[in-house]
Amino acid sequence: MQYQSEVAQRAFVDIHTLEPIALAATASAAVASYAWVGRYDQKAADAAATTAMREALANAPGHGSVVIGEGEKDDAPMLFNGEIVGNGHGPDFDIAVDPLEGTSFCAKDLPGALATIAFGESGTLWSPGPGFYMDKIVVPPQAKDVIDLDDPPEETLAKVAKALGKQVSELRVVIMDKPRHKDLIARVLRAGAAVQTPAGGDVGGSLAVLLPTQDIDLLLGVGGTPEGVMTAAAVGALGGGMLGRLAPQRAEEADAIRAAGMSLDRIYNCAELVTGDAFFVATGVSGGSLLGRPRKSEGTTITESLVISSGQVRHITRTTFE
Ligand code: FBP
Repeated sequence: MQYQSEVAQRAFVDIHTLEPIALAATASAAVASYAWVGRYDQKAADAAATTAMREALANAPGHGSVVIGEGEKDDAPMLFNGEIVGNGHGPDFDIAVDPLEGTSFCAKDLPGALATIAFGESGTLWSPGPGFYMDKIVVPPQAKDVIDLDDPPEETLAKVAKALGKQVSELRVVIMDKPRHKDLIARVLRAGAAVQTPAGGDVGGSLAVLLPTQDIDLLLGVGGTPEGVMTAAAVGALGGGMLGRLAPQRAEEADAIRAAGMSLDRIYNCAELVTGDAFFVATGVSGGSLLGRPRKSEGTTITESLVISSGQVRHITRTTFE
């Protein structure tokens, strides 16, 4: 009986009470990796961010499971899938995390590197198993009901344009500049839309779709699965639309997915990628139009973060005294 009431109590703990911890964790990872901005050492930058994030998460009140940590596909330092974080005193929760999203931007001092994390109620974040890559569409709320990953891109553009009350020629589409997207980029251009093609960073690209200040209408293309789950937490919190499907880039990845009994055909919508209450936090590392980089001045460190939660985007400037 006592056990049952403990379980019931835990299940009703508000996940949003963990937002300050998530903010502290991404801010700490951002400051740690900022020391490596422009030093052409991706692994050291990733390791610094990961260590700082792990230390910050150790203070989280509760019992957290890393459902999906980023780094495995690149053999980079990471919070491991299944790793337990938190001090054990508080709610159970799930996290999807990339302490340094856009490691090469950080290494080369290019805009766009972010420290990122999503928290969800226990058991609510999708696990892609051995899948590293997924095909994604991300759109604003007005277009959430018109997308289908099986549609050719020309049809997606036409439907999204109609839903947004625009012409296809007025759409701006973000697609990462990868060899696998050569044909996709050419087709989107031929259809008359404009493209933004960053070298990487599809979490940032997806945030640009969600934030009206950024002048991007949709994201298309194949990116990482951890990035996909974190994106889904942000999309879900703001009522946007997202679809994803595993898209292995090598035969071994496809074999591992099949061996794990997972489907390569199934399309997941946002509510299937994140099935309960969740929130997303990012802090800027190398600057850019989304978030500035950490700044140090007279014994203080200032960081810029976004907390995306319960239909709101909060832009937080945080000052830490040394
Ligand atoms: P990192 O955090 O490993 O630097 O990932 C950056 C990123 O561009 C993601 O935004 C994207 O989802 C993924 O890599 C794409 O992977 P790849 O560069 O292998 O195509």
